[in-house]
Amino acid sequence: MSRIVYVNGEYLPETEAKVSIFDRGFLFADGVYEVTSVLGGKLIDFDGHARRLERSLGELDMTPPIGRDALLEVHRQLVARNGLEEGMIYLQITRGAPADRDFAFPSEEVPGTVVLFPQAKTLTGPEIAAKGWRIVTVDDLRWGRRDIKTVQLLYPSMGKMAAKAAGADDAWMVEDGHVTEGTSNNAYIVKDGKIVTRHLGTEILHGITRAAVLRFAAEAQMKVEERAFTVEEAQAADEAFVTSASSFVMPVVEIDGVVLGDGTPGPIAMRLREIYIDESRKVAL
Ligand code: PDD
Repeated sequence: MSRIVYVNGEYLPETEAKVSIFDRGFLFADGVYEVTSVLGGKLIDFDGHARRLERSLGELDMTPPIGRDALLEVHRQLVARNGLEEGMIYLQITRGAPADRDFAFPSEEVPGTVVLFPQAKTLTGPEIAAKGWRIVTVDDLRWGRRDIKTVQLLYPSMGKMAAKAAGADDAWMVEDGHVTEGTSNNAYIVKDGKIVTRHLGTEILHGITRAAVLRFAAEAQMKVEERAFTVEEAQAADEAFVTSASSFVMPVVEIDGVVLGDGTPGPIAMRLREIYIDESRKVAL
């Protein structure tokens, strides 16, 4: 079944949607994106994603080509027109398509390109997190502004391929001996009941799921420490997990071949997963 997608003001069947070959997203990865999950036909944490999108655009001196209310409406329309019950809405905004390839940014008259499409995916249910993920580590070779959610995702793709080649589920990236984050998620360990996750900065994306999960953890009287941790510390942890809009809270059971605890998803990760999904559903838009 063909999806209905959104491109620059129009809802179209996916086969009819077009973007210029001169689009700066295509030529320079000059664009930003967001992924908002959908549960029960409703958007999870839309405001958080919209806020981060505005920040990403601002950091790159891009003029928002569409406002927050209009964006919410497009998200809702795509959910409705595609009958999306569970999955994600992908949103991408680029610096638009000038008349030719040129490294310099085009003038303000070139409008940004706005593309959104739905992706149906089962995100919940007992089988999704039942086994937990096995992780390998790779060097973090990305650029220095990982707090901006740009579409430069080649290195994370390579990380996921390295994980696949090793028979693992995903990769964590390591810089100066410390874990920065997963290829498309934030990374956490749990030791003696305390949750440790890297502090915010330019080295990692400021996860919208991370912010919510840390808030729920505090509300549940769990101890949280925001600081960098090493791979060795992670391998000696009682449990570990990752968070993202597409995985929510996903337990990690193995890091570079070292099994954590008894090799099954940890209780704190599973509890946070349940709380996150329950609470997010309650306030979904
Ligand atoms: N990835 N870190 C990185 C590098 C990410 O790409 C993501 C999200 C996160 C988690 O952010 P959030 O909780 O806001 O989803 C952390 C999305 C899901 C993706 O690229 O598909």
